[in-house]
Amino acid sequence: MNPFNAFIWPAWRSALGSLLLATAMQPALAEDPYPSRPITWVVPFAAGGPTDAIARNVAQRVSTVLGNTIVIENVPGAGGTVGAAKVARARPDGYTLFVGHTGTMAAAPYLFKTLKYDPAKDFVPVFRFPDTPMVLLVKNGSRFKTATELLDEARKNPGKLTFGTAGVGSSSHLAAEHLASTAKVKFTFIPYKGTGPAMSDLMGGQIDAMLDQTNVSLPQTQGGRLTALALTSRARMDMFPNVPNLTERELPGFLAFTWYGIYAPTGTPQNVVDTLSKAYTKALADAEFTGALRKQGIDVLPAERVGPEALKAFTASEAVKWEKVIKDAGIPPQ
Ligand code: MLT
Repeated sequence: MNPFNAFIWPAWRSALGSLLLATAMQPALAEDPYPSRPITWVVPFAAGGPTDAIARNVAQRVSTVLGNTIVIENVPGAGGTVGAAKVARARPDGYTLFVGHTGTMAAAPYLFKTLKYDPAKDFVPVFRFPDTPMVLLVKNGSRFKTATELLDEARKNPGKLTFGTAGVGSSSHLAAEHLASTAKVKFTFIPYKGTGPAMSDLMGGQIDAMLDQTNVSLPQTQGGRLTALALTSRARMDMFPNVPNLTERELPGFLAFTWYGIYAPTGTPQNVVDTLSKAYTKALADAEFTGALRKQGIDVLPAERVGPEALKAFTASEAVKWEKVIKDAGIPPQ
């Protein structure tokens, strides 16, 4: 062997060895167990609102079960549809997921002329969160002491009362539109980028009322900054003492709540969907977790109603419901 060959042979052999080793490792890397790095959940509203609060709550438990970090990314705008469009275009590898809800996953196609995603085609349902009933809120010291007084005023002066919403197509907007059309009154809606800024203006007296989820409203009513006039649930709630339901007197049969779920971009492998949904079912078995949610007025659903198939059927039925509500209420697409 000439000295040159003697020099390059070991180097060539070691390079070949590394190449073969790397090739041999390829399938192992591709099949890394899921999850093996942080997962991002996109919340399509500002931080501090009800969607953000419940998502952080659920994410914390699911990440404990998975033994893996879940990062919340707030991508607000256009009633949550900006965040939805972003996730619809994300890599379907299970590391970017969407916190969808009543508005973004059911009502949006009937509210927006151009929507940059299709809830049914661009996403696969993963699991459904607990539901959150809503509260009719006014600022503390408001001249309206009951829901009847507020609705009577809206009847006498159509369009005079201003209702804050978390944006067109947000669940606070949808519930308020549903309330207006059921009560046959007209409000002027003022859209914000999320519940947080709408609530600040409600406290400051810039708007007259809003409907919002119990989880974020509760500390404000307990702290005396806002007054709850009525709930939109069937049963009364201990944490809102002496607050009646709209269905008891003003609007028999009127119920409203916000539902949420985790959705993955279409193409996400089934094993990823199964892993996440099983982790959530495990979290639901933790009484400390579910007890803390119930204390915020949140309605924890049983395991058989929260899996991917149940969420798929439920999302489809909600799309049918909201198409009708939006058409009946005559809400023009934006
Ligand atoms: C909604 O009304 O859709 C949400 O409450 C918005 C938010 O979480 O801020």
